[in-house]
Amino acid sequence: MRIGLYPGSFDPITLGHKDIITRALSLVDKLVVGVGVSATKKPLFNVEERIAMIEEELASAAKKAGVELSVLSFDGLLVDVAQKHKANLIVRGLRSGTDFEYEAQMTAMNRKMNKDIETVFLASTPEVGFISSTLVRQISAMGGDVSPFVSPYVKKLMEKK
Ligand code: PNS
Repeated sequence: MRIGLYPGSFDPITLGHKDIITRALSLVDKLVVGVGVSATKKPLFNVEERIAMIEEELASAAKKAGVELSVLSFDGLLVDVAQKHKANLIVRGLRSGTDFEYEAQMTAMNRKMNKDIETVFLASTPEVGFISSTLVRQISAMGGDVSPFVSPYVKKLMEKK
């Protein structure tokens, strides 16, 4: 059984994340989406809100693909979370060469810590490959229109904030 772990901050989940997650569904039997809880970051959405948002956005795609979807929070090492949930695959999206530099370094260090967990990179679909949650939050805070970057559902939740 292939179990994938897709980690991220998802503050909020964007169309870029949805692109990677829906494509990752074809690679695994079960997908664990891990919402990272960083003690240093002050998020716009709390962990419970982010988990609910991801479930709402992806439950039907996972069901359609016949993939079990589990969305949970974590605050430790990625390799420990992967091991805890029996994930043999970590999935990460790559938007640019800069992403690659950083991700390749993390992947190498993660593999040193646990050689049984493989990391798979999916190149972002160009139409959504420029989206960053940080910039989406900034645009929203300054009154800009975030509809090219997030779903109508997430847009509504951002407006409420
Ligand atoms: O949304 P992001 O910034 O891509 O998500 C970052 C996240 C949560 C994936 C990252 O902070 C992470 O991997 N945290 C786990 C900590 C860890 O394992 N660090 C060692 C990596 S070598």
